[in-house]
Amino acid sequence: MRIALVILAAGKGTRMNSDLPKVLHPIGQAPMLAHAMQSGAALDPAHTVIVAGHGADQVARAAQQIDDTAQVVIQEEQLGTAHAVEQARPALQGFGGDVVVLYGDTPFVRAETLERMVEARKAHDLVILGFHAADPARYGRLVMAGDRLERIVEFKDATDEERAITFCNSGLLAGNSELLLDLIAQVGNDNASGEYYLTDVVALARARGLSVTAIACDEAETLGVNSRADLAAAEAVFQARARAELLETGITMTAPDTVHLAFDTVIGRDTVIEPNVVFGPGVTVESGATIRAFSHLEGCHVSRGAVVGPYARLRPGAELAEDTRIGNFVEIKNAQIDQGAKVNHLSYIGDARVGAASNIGAGTITCNYDGVMKHHTEIGQGAFIGSNTMLVAPVTVGDGAMTASGSVITRDVEPEALAVARAKQENKPGHARKLFEMLKARKEKRSGGNG
Ligand code: UD1
Ligand code: CA
Repeated sequence: MRIALVILAAGKGTRMNSDLPKVLHPIGQAPMLAHAMQSGAALDPAHTVIVAGHGADQVARAAQQIDDTAQVVIQEEQLGTAHAVEQARPALQGFGGDVVVLYGDTPFVRAETLERMVEARKAHDLVILGFHAADPARYGRLVMAGDRLERIVEFKDATDEERAITFCNSGLLAGNSELLLDLIAQVGNDNASGEYYLTDVVALARARGLSVTAIACDEAETLGVNSRADLAAAEAVFQARARAELLETGITMTAPDTVHLAFDTVIGRDTVIEPNVVFGPGVTVESGATIRAFSHLEGCHVSRGAVVGPYARLRPGAELAEDTRIGNFVEIKNAQIDQGAKVNHLSYIGDARVGAASNIGAGTITCNYDGVMKHHTEIGQGAFIGSNTMLVAPVTVGDGAMTASGSVITRDVEPEALAVARAKQENKPGHARKLFEMLKARKEKRSGGNG
């Protein structure tokens, strides 16, 4: 069965108290919306339709960045969830397959759960995703008769008896697109909120003698975000899930609760992550690497056997080959560090390549920015860059070359040459003693000779 996703994301999110549309607030450094879209992507949808309203331009831009085939439709006024799905009607014209409705602010629904919904659809005309709520609060209640769903009643419209039901509506639903749009056309707004409730399609379908069921998912999957507190809680859920998945796949974390992961962090087996490591987006770490404490990585690749940190910062475009060493207070940006090369202490390597087995001394800086443009530094294989070398880019240091400590390298260094670019040292015999004596005499005079 071909699937179309309709993702509701028009709501204002008043309680977020934000200029940013709610569905664009990040969890695991990806917009909430991306999480819903990613779960939905497991159904291999023929269409993905995002219903945007508040901040529609921003939402549309973000949606297309996540999936450039996504269509965005606008719900000018938020008149309810049925009215929201109604906006997808033109996009679904002539589609004929199944629609799965998701919420943009419900990021945790699992792909397997959506697959179960699609599976249940084979035996029923409509499938609702429900959950057994520890605290049913203001969720819509599912009124069941055996395994059949009779209707959904919104909290505001529910009797005390109905409010006692703990099987609740997640909001997600699956059904044939034509049937669903046909039912939606029948939905009115004569209820406690004056809104067009999507939930009303259940009773309408039952009145036509159609079969409707509700399947249950874990309550954690239905966690919605309405406030910054919810967002923080959702972040914690995301982190817990992501850490558990990594531990499961054979990664060692000595203090998992202190490791922060991004939605797309990829780490190979037998890699060790020490405490307080932060992964920004776009990080891949191969098997058997070690990321030591207090390191911050984003947009980078770390190969097998590399050791990073403690206190290292890998910025976008940092590419570490096998068995490289990046030590404390070292920043690497847009630079390829070839096999076995070492940058162990207090350095900045940006817009550069460091050849295999080269050693970069403490305090080395690639002076890559002239205030207007960025320039490249090329260091060959087996080179030795002395401590506190300034490499004023563009500049090349050849294979097997050396720079003397404290050098300011402004011209290329040919292979195997030693570049010394610092003021010559001069020693003046006895001058230190004389200077000390002079200074001490001056101090005594100032303090009036009494100590
Ligand atoms: C809805 C369900 C309720 C369910 C709950 C689960 C209805 C009538 N009620 O209630 O049964 O228990 O979700 O969280 O469907 N949206 C739009 N346009 C609109 C209205 C909403 O895009 O006009 C979007 C919102 O941005 C949000 C989602 O739809 O992503 C749900 O809307 P919301 O107003 O939060 O629904 P609830 O009242 O929570
Ligand atoms: Ca809600």
